[in-house]
Amino acid sequence: MSAFTHRDGILHADGVAIPAIAEAVGTPFYCYSRSALVERYRNFDAALAGLGVDIFYAIKANSNLAVIRALALEGAGADVVSIGEVRRALAAGVAAERILFAGVGKTQDEMAQALEAGVGQFNVESESELRALSEVANRLGHEATVGLRVNPDVDAKTHAKITTGRKENKFGVDIERAPEFFDLASNLPGTQASSLSVHIGSQLTQVSPFREAYGRLREMTLTLRQAGHVVDHLDLGGGLGIVYENEDEPDLSSYARIVRETVSDLDCRLSVEPGRFLVGNAGILVAKVVYVKYGGERRFVIVDGAMNDLIRPTLYNAHHDIVPVEPQRVAGPTGLTDIVGPICESGDYFAQARDFPDMPEGALLAILSAGAYSSVMASNYNSRPMAPEVMVDGDRFEVVRRRQSMEDLLALESLPDWLDGSQAAD
Ligand code: LLP
Repeated sequence: MSAFTHRDGILHADGVAIPAIAEAVGTPFYCYSRSALVERYRNFDAALAGLGVDIFYAIKANSNLAVIRALALEGAGADVVSIGEVRRALAAGVAAERILFAGVGKTQDEMAQALEAGVGQFNVESESELRALSEVANRLGHEATVGLRVNPDVDAKTHAKITTGRKENKFGVDIERAPEFFDLASNLPGTQASSLSVHIGSQLTQVSPFREAYGRLREMTLTLRQAGHVVDHLDLGGGLGIVYENEDEPDLSSYARIVRETVSDLDCRLSVEPGRFLVGNAGILVAKVVYVKYGGERRFVIVDGAMNDLIRPTLYNAHHDIVPVEPQRVAGPTGLTDIVGPICESGDYFAQARDFPDMPEGALLAILSAGAYSSVMASNYNSRPMAPEVMVDGDRFEVVRRRQSMEDLLALESLPDWLDGSQAAD
């Protein structure tokens, strides 16, 4: 059941009325439901039960400390892609050995900090990166556990910007080259490769590409073993999609069956890296109607949230359902409506040409499925301070990231002396 439902005509997050949060923190704001996060995690965990699969939450989807902690308390480790995310995972209480450091461009400085922190595994994506890791690990006297991210050349059948497992994508190394990499890792000081990893894309609504990709991992595991290498861990990546509009959410039991049929008999530890699946539907973005205006046949509802708070509609043509927080305040004739923000770009919209009833100025709207890739992709464009994040737990709520202030933004900048107006530019 969704954590966000109307009760007595008012949208609630679990036991808390959304207008009460708006009153306390202002708008716009993100609101996450702890119970929704936990329910998703437990469903996923239960579906994979018996397969020995360990869940590493891909914190890029939503890296708020409270979100990471809520999932870590359920048993999740963290899949991270920068030293910043390592720091977040640690700050949220994830044990260093439960952190898996992925990403195509880790710098030696990031590697060094992660090694010193005791990060459990590095997923490596190129020969240069492997050599760089070896050098740092050797210098610091560490032995880095290396997973090789392979590119299986499988079409994930998702949006072009979030497909990652084709040869033309920048991710991973061609799967046929895995033996070379395992040889190299065992010859280099400071690195030990015993793991293969794959991630073919995000928001997958069909499971067949997983079967193809995991099948290739299986074949490569057998090939590597024949060549005398140890492969004791397979990282199956993330990518399971969610319902934004009317998609078919991939069925967890079908996914589990694929894992069982492709890789479960290989005597490897298995892990997955879900992001969106755990958090996407556990969050909303709440904004307030500022003005309503008409242009041609269209009605424009201008709200106080914008593309800097949620860029997915304009970046990926993504659909997010939008519901009024108090439907009885939103009556009158329906009409083709654009719900837009105040930013000076035509791409600043949450919905275009959608049928909505009249919305009075001051009404609250909830943009749904904003738990993943929303706050984390926010920017300060148009000098808009980032919106606060709130987590609800039953009948209580807490601000888990305060609203940025203009002072926060201005504090990062400074004026050079030579712009004091006394000298002209040459
Ligand atoms: N593992 C790796 C190596 C990844 O690159 C990603 C996502 C994940 C796991 C988690 O994928 P998920 O389970 O969330 O699909 N900003 C885009 C999504 C970008 C995904 C990037 N990588 C969006 O808003 O749709």
